[in-house]
Amino acid sequence: MEIKSARFVVSNTDVEKCPRPDKPEYAFIGRSNVGKSSLINMLTERKSLAKISGKPGKTRLINHFLINEEWYLVDLPGYGYAKIAKKEREKWEKFLRSYILKRENLYNLFVLIDSRHSPQPIDLEFMEWLGLSQIPFSIVFTKTDKLKPEELESNLNNYTTKLLETWETVPPLFVSSAEKRTGREEILQYIEEINTLSR
Ligand code: GTP
Ligand code: MG
Repeated sequence: MEIKSARFVVSNTDVEKCPRPDKPEYAFIGRSNVGKSSLINMLTERKSLAKISGKPGKTRLINHFLINEEWYLVDLPGYGYAKIAKKEREKWEKFLRSYILKRENLYNLFVLIDSRHSPQPIDLEFMEWLGLSQIPFSIVFTKTDKLKPEELESNLNNYTTKLLETWETVPPLFVSSAEKRTGREEILQYIEEINTLSR
């Protein structure tokens, strides 16, 4: 899919104040610093559409971007960031969950996982919650440029095995690197297929 236009629309913490849910929407979620904002910039080929930082906790709002005037990409704050005050973290987690449950045009959630790490309980529990809540999701393994091909393969096998302990089938999996632009075509094609089905 060609990205002809990509523009920022609105930021907020309230699902009621998001744009009218009249277009397909795809959101990116995962632990703080996993690379959500970087992936959005890579997909749209816009260097600073979504704000990036070396420090976790950069994205604090629900950010809507309109792509090709047809569909939304959404950058979300990370979950599980230990260094912010407990009260504020609980507030984020509350509005994240409310956004995920209430947003009727959310066609797919991309759950980002750092490809360097072994399966973490926080991500596995979050995906179980998505399953119970019947939210369609897929997994994107990020920062694959930081691994040797054989390390990546071994980590992916390990992750799949772990998922199969809980799930009957694994969700769609993508591998990505914002640095090397890996996974761009596959993720955009997947979005395009869902957009086409929804027309
Ligand atoms: P929060 O908004 O804080 O939740 O973080 P985020 O998930 O949006 O992560 P962000 O895109 O801000 O990236 C965090 C850090 O990881 C930055 O220093 C990025 O440059 C780096 N990073 C992101 N993706 C990649 C990647 O594919 N490869 C490499 N090498 N670094 C990456
Ligand atoms: Mg971010």
